[in-house]
Amino acid sequence: MSLVRFQNVMSNELAKRTMFTRPPEPPQEFLLNDPSNSVFIGITKLFSVPFTWTFASLTNPHISVVGITGAGKSFFVKTFLTRASYVWKTNAIIIDWAGEYKAWVQQSGGITVSLGKGDFINLLDLSGMKPLDRSKQIINSFEILTDISDYPEQRRLTVEAIEQAYVNFGFDPAELPKPDKEAPTLKNVISLLEEKLQEGSYAYPAELENAVYRLRQFAREGEDYFARKSTLDLSKLISSGLVDIDLSGLPDERFRALAALFMLQTLKERMRMEGWSASKGLKALIVLDEAWKVASDERSDAVTIIREGRKYQFGLIVASQNPTDINEAIFSNVGTSVMLRIKFEKFLDYLQGSLNFSQFMRNEISKFGVGQAAVDMSFQTSVQFPEVFLIDRIIGEIPLDVYTITVADVLNQAELTDQNVQKEYYLEKIDLNSKFIQANINSVAIENVFKELDNRNRVLDIRGLMQIMLNERVNKDTIVELMRGFGLADSVITRVFSYAT
Ligand SMILES: Nc1ncnc2c1ncn2[C@@H]1O[C@H](COP(=O)(O)OP(=O)(O)O)[C@@H](O)[C@H]1O
Ligand SMILES: [Mg+2]
Repeated sequence: MSLVRFQNVMSNELAKRTMFTRPPEPPQEFLLNDPSNSVFIGITKLFSVPFTWTFASLTNPHISVVGITGAGKSFFVKTFLTRASYVWKTNAIIIDWAGEYKAWVQQSGGITVSLGKGDFINLLDLSGMKPLDRSKQIINSFEILTDISDYPEQRRLTVEAIEQAYVNFGFDPAELPKPDKEAPTLKNVISLLEEKLQEGSYAYPAELENAVYRLRQFAREGEDYFARKSTLDLSKLISSGLVDIDLSGLPDERFRALAALFMLQTLKERMRMEGWSASKGLKALIVLDEAWKVASDERSDAVTIIREGRKYQFGLIVASQNPTDINEAIFSNVGTSVMLRIKFEKFLDYLQGSLNFSQFMRNEISKFGVGQAAVDMSFQTSVQFPEVFLIDRIIGEIPLDVYTITVADVLNQAELTDQNVQKEYYLEKIDLNSKFIQANINSVAIENVFKELDNRNRVLDIRGLMQIMLNERVNKDTIVELMRGFGLADSVITRVFSYAT
């Protein structure tokens, strides 16, 4: 009987065995890069090496970020964008599902676009693209979001009407458009289909009716967020510093997904138009946070950007609490995966299966505190060390103490759609406090307002704010003075008071 038995074992299987459970780290030269050409993330857990990220030796600049709610995904993204902008002047466009980046972007001097709250996108806007290409993209989005691909005749009618709308507006569908020429909107497309229906000569009126119905969902009065002249210059998006596209004001997931798909299509086209240029670092980063419908569909342009981004110095950051919501074509192809705390076994199975890390690593990931992370990097050349290592904690830019006061629920329809009327006010704690003090508000009232704000994730509506003050017997004139101090119009202030109980 022999004492030693030989076995053929795959190296990833070996890595999972207990004898290799000490978490080794990539050698320093892979972690510590020229600080003027890399982004600092944190200190490694094992050898305390400052880890600075660059994509020079990685397969691509794209990053996935996964972790349970509160694990620190958005914090990582903000930190990363801030530093990339210092180091490389990287522009960033955040496709912000829940509006959670908005206050931060405002505080950082960036631009915010609030769809559904005063900002509009015209789906037919070309921003330099040929009408034929845009038509294809629009149909592509409808295919992802509706069942139009099951109805080829309706699909054909819709494409035809979109192209006809361009022709009617003086475009040549196969030619690059002249800049500043105004594009038709979805409403023009619908009109064309309706005219055809009225003419009565088309053999399948039910098909026409259904095509109209499908489009109308996105063009109804009051919900025509994508069927009006755009309020933002799409051609400038990728060179405008920090831009937040807040989708939280749109009525439902379908509208948000349509906006996100459209943004990705437009950004992809801009990326290709800009072409290649020799510049250091990243030109632009596109962030998709919790946009599962868009990240999970292989027809979305997130996948195209993943494939082509590197050569144009464009990076995509996809963050999600559920790694299985990120399409395989994205997840298995990103150059860097940042794993924050993950609890669910099935998500851990998925990660371990695709990134091949040890059981030790798996246990660590399930026990992480806020900001602790495991990082996986895919190098262009094969390397002799494990690609997953631990970061003691993502060391972030100090978060700003931002509070939000909302006024949307006291505005009328005209004010809500007017871009110049502010729907939310962002104030740093110190500023808000000093405004209270300037308005001579008593300290108990101030304390209660902050308590309420902190209980509600730092967001309070103006009526709630007023009610707390009234309960603390702050007099009306003082409250009016405070609201004027925020910048509210007197007509709006009067309306706020009409809600007092
Ligand atoms: N690395 C970190 N250092 C300090 N605070 C952090 C860190 N990561 C997250 N936080 C804080 O923890 C909270 C939750 O983080 P957040 O990024 O919003 O989580 P997620 O996006 O994963 O839900 C926030 O208040 C954030 O400021
Ligand atoms: Mg988040």
